[in-house]
Amino acid sequence: MKSILCVFYSCTIALTSAAVKHSRTFPKDFIFGTSTAAYQIEGAWNADDKSENIWDYLTHTNPGAIDDRSTGDVACDSFNNYKRDVEMMRELGIDSYRFSVAWSRILPNGLADRVSEAGIAYYNNVIDEVLKYNIQPMITLYHWDLPQKLQDMGGFLNPLIVDWFADYARVVFDNFGDRVKTFITFNEAAQVCYEGYGSVTKAPLLNLTGIGEYICAKNLVLAHAKAYHIYNNEFRAKQGGQCGYTIAAGASLPLTDSDEDRHAVELFIQFQWALYTDPIFSKDGGFPKELTELAAKKSAAQGYPRSRLPDFTEEEKAYVRGTSDFFGVNHYSGALTSGSLYTNQYAVPSSMDDIEVGQVALDDWLQGASPWLKKMPNSLYHALRQINERYPDYPIIVTENGWSTREGIEDDERVDYYRDALEDVLDALDEGIDVRGYYAWSLMDNFEWLAGYTERFGLYEVDFEDPARTRTPRKSAFIYKQIMKTRMIDH
Ligand code: NOJ
Repeated sequence: MKSILCVFYSCTIALTSAAVKHSRTFPKDFIFGTSTAAYQIEGAWNADDKSENIWDYLTHTNPGAIDDRSTGDVACDSFNNYKRDVEMMRELGIDSYRFSVAWSRILPNGLADRVSEAGIAYYNNVIDEVLKYNIQPMITLYHWDLPQKLQDMGGFLNPLIVDWFADYARVVFDNFGDRVKTFITFNEAAQVCYEGYGSVTKAPLLNLTGIGEYICAKNLVLAHAKAYHIYNNEFRAKQGGQCGYTIAAGASLPLTDSDEDRHAVELFIQFQWALYTDPIFSKDGGFPKELTELAAKKSAAQGYPRSRLPDFTEEEKAYVRGTSDFFGVNHYSGALTSGSLYTNQYAVPSSMDDIEVGQVALDDWLQGASPWLKKMPNSLYHALRQINERYPDYPIIVTENGWSTREGIEDDERVDYYRDALEDVLDALDEGIDVRGYYAWSLMDNFEWLAGYTERFGLYEVDFEDPARTRTPRKSAFIYKQIMKTRMIDH
């Protein structure tokens, strides 16, 4: 493809002349961006006084857990290459950059007793550099890299995490909130809790199935609420920004038209994301009612003296309810859901076991490089609709969306994926769903957790063999640039 070989800016000429099939445009104030996360891109794992986080610890102590036995020790080396990253953002023409702050870079002890000057300086540099070019920074406070010292004290299973996180959040708001107007407390709560504490797909691989994820859910939601209240009470008036929360939501559609399958969709949503969002966004607050009942019933049948899913007190419910200014969603795909497919693969109780619902993807859906990623038609549209139906009063920001390939810059699959996903956003907007922004995952290839560098999500390819970590735009980078420039999807 010729345009890939030319200099970035001149490529647009070729693309502008492409026939424009659709004339729908994105609203003027719609925000386009790209997303990254600290552990996945920064490297410099022990620069200055930064301490180990749970991913440093996992990759260093259990290398076999990562598909290619890699680590994030260097990753994209964005700690040193952040100016090049911002140059890429300018090449693309994004409005906003979502990135995360590494807790253990800011607070080497995990606790707020000592703030790292070097850590603060690094993020000041990133923020100032993006602002120089009129790109709005959006900060995620927690994108999965808990300081190991806090994990040693139980991590998200210790109720003290509420205070630890709140103190960390205050340091972040205080240092960066003069320039950063959008904060997200947590990225993908279910992946923190279910995958990290209830199974073995994310650090710390605790595998306390059926129990760990529920304890974590309650603590995480309370930690979020406390950070939100701090923002609201101590910073909002002088800083004038917003503070939200992001979860991962796939689209879940019934496998058949049966009542059982339609009900299975609701149960699956409760398990996949409403467990972590109903307490914050629903009118009544608290965990989803049916899941609460099912967990209690199952726990009793399993001989537990009380439900594995802890309750919120009425006071806690009120404290948590309404503590988000928007609903952030990371979306990748979806699946068909059925009430009659589930079989428990494990001998131990799991929260999945509490709902007994199964999911399938169809054979003819395109397979991404990630085993879990199959392209369900119009999945983003369905997910946005499901979120809006559940919480009609909240604006939605798509904080991540993307497609994985192997290496190579001819990424037609990703091009199609982005075009289709953005059509879904336009469809949702046409229906009056209040979608405020869209962030592509990811600006560049990076460390994809247990898959290491084997799955590539970048608009830019990164050469991980090259000490300079050279970045090269993929075809999708040019297409995304064109969409953002014209605010239309060209086909
Ligand atoms: C969601 C996560 O937030 C991000 O860290 C990850 O790389 C992407 N999904 C792709 O798996």
